[in-house]
Amino acid sequence: MTTEVLEAVETPPGPFKEEPAPTPKVLVKSYGCQMNVYDATRMADLLGREGYAETQSEEDADLVILNTCHIREKAAEKIYSELGKLAIAKRELNARGRDMKIVVAGCVAQAEGEEVLKRQRAVDLVVGPQSYHRLPELLRRAESGARVADTDFAVEDKFRALPAPSRAQIRARGVSAFVTVQEGCDKFCSFCVVPYTRGAESSRPVAEIVAETRRLVDAGVCEVTLIGQNVNAYRGPDAQGRETTLAQILELLARIEGLTRLRYTTSHPVDMGQALIDAHAAIPKLMPYVHLPVQSGSDRILKAMNRRHDAQAYLSIAESLRKARPDVALSSDFIVGFPGETDADFEATMALVRAVGFASSFSFKYSARPGTPAADRPDQIEEHVKSERLAALQALLDEQRRAFNDATVGRKVDVLFEKPGRHEGQIAGKSPYMQAVHAEGSIEHIGREVSVEIVAAGSNSLSARLMSEEAKA
Ligand code: 5AD
Ligand code: SF4
Repeated sequence: MTTEVLEAVETPPGPFKEEPAPTPKVLVKSYGCQMNVYDATRMADLLGREGYAETQSEEDADLVILNTCHIREKAAEKIYSELGKLAIAKRELNARGRDMKIVVAGCVAQAEGEEVLKRQRAVDLVVGPQSYHRLPELLRRAESGARVADTDFAVEDKFRALPAPSRAQIRARGVSAFVTVQEGCDKFCSFCVVPYTRGAESSRPVAEIVAETRRLVDAGVCEVTLIGQNVNAYRGPDAQGRETTLAQILELLARIEGLTRLRYTTSHPVDMGQALIDAHAAIPKLMPYVHLPVQSGSDRILKAMNRRHDAQAYLSIAESLRKARPDVALSSDFIVGFPGETDADFEATMALVRAVGFASSFSFKYSARPGTPAADRPDQIEEHVKSERLAALQALLDEQRRAFNDATVGRKVDVLFEKPGRHEGQIAGKSPYMQAVHAEGSIEHIGREVSVEIVAAGSNSLSARLMSEEAKA
C-alpha cells in the first residue's frame, strides 16, 4: 500500500469539553454515475459502524466526503468550486473552535489526488475508489494532523473488507437498491477516463452478490439494480471457481423470494450476447428496460472511438431484444462533437436515433480528457458546433421521450411505490421503464408493486390512478 503523507499540519484547537463528545456527523455528497451512489452508501454505512451519524447539512457536518466524478471536464471542475465553498465554511467553523474534515473520494481523487491536495489546502484526505474500506484508519491519520492520499488499486478485496450494512441502514435507504457486481473497464474507448480511474475489469464472486442481495431483500428491498462500468462483461467465479455470466446471475437472483424487480446497468453492445438477450424473455422479474450506450451512429466515428462495433450491430441488438421481449424499451448515451465528426457523421447519429426510438437518453458534448487518445487529436470540433449538434440531438431525444410517455396514457402499468408524494395523500414510485409516477394513495402501498392506470403524462413524470382492487387494499 502506498498511502502518502504529504505534510503535517496543526489541527485547530477544539472547544474545552467536559461532557461526552457528541455523535460526529458525516455528509457524503455523490456526483456522477450509479457506481458512485453505491460507493457513497457503503462509505456512509462503514462510517455508521464507526459511530458517525449521517447528515444532509454542511452546517452540522464534522466530516464532508465528496464522492467525485472525472468523466467530463465540467464534472471535475465542479469539484474544485465545491471545495472552494467548503474551505470557506471550514475556516468559519475553525474560527468558532470547531473543525470539519474534508475528504475527496471517487474518480477525481484517483486521477489527480495529489493535485487536489496542492490546489485546495483545506482538503484533509484523498481516497480513491479502491481504498474506501480503509477510510476509518485514514481518518484517524487525518485527525492527528496528516494530509493523506491513498489512491492504490486493490491489493485486497474492498468489498470483503467492508462490514455488511445493518437492517436499519438498509431500511433507511428505501425499497430500491444497487449492488455492484463488476468494476473497471478493459474496453479503452478513446474518449474515456474510466479504464484509468477505475482500473481493469473485475467481477465479484457469485456467492457475495447473492448474499448481499438476500440481505437487502430480508430488510425489505424489492428492487435490485446490478451495477458495473461494463456490467454485461460480468464473469465472476461461482463456488467451484467456474466463470458465471450476467445472464446466469440474474437467473439465480430471480429465485429470491420477495425480490420483485431486477435491473442491470451499464452495458456495452459488444458484450450483449444472446444469453443475456434471452434472459429478457425467460425472467419476468427482469425489467423490460435496457440502458445500452451507443455514443454515435456513424461507423467511422464508432471506429475512431474504439467501440468495436458498427451501427448495424447496434440495430440488430435492439431488434433481438424486442423479439425476446416485445415490451422492452431502450435508453442510451451519446457523445456529439467527437474529434473529426462531420455533419454527415452527426446525421448518422440522428438516423440511428430515429431508427431505434429511445425511451430516454443522456447526451453530452465531447470533452477532451487528459491522458485519453482522442484528446490528442488535432481535429477537435469547435464548441459552437458541438452546442448546435447537442441541441438538435436533445430535441429529437426529448420528442421521443415525450412520445414514449404519452403512449403509456390509458395503459395498465405496475408501479413500485417508494415514498410519499410531494402533496398530502400522494405516493410516488417508478414504472418498469424508470418513469416517475405519482398517484393518490395510502402510504401502505409504499414498498409494493401496485397496478395502476396511467391517466396523464408529462415530459418527466406520469400521473396514475390505482386500479380499484388495489385502491381498496
Ligand atoms: N466526453 C463526453 N462524454 C463522455 N462520456 C464518457 N467520456 C466522455 C467524454 N470524454 C459519456 C459517455 C458515457 C457516459 C457515462 O459519459 O456517453 O457512456
Ligand atoms: Fe468508458 Fe468505453 Fe469503458 Fe464505457 S466501455 S467505461 S465508455 S472505456
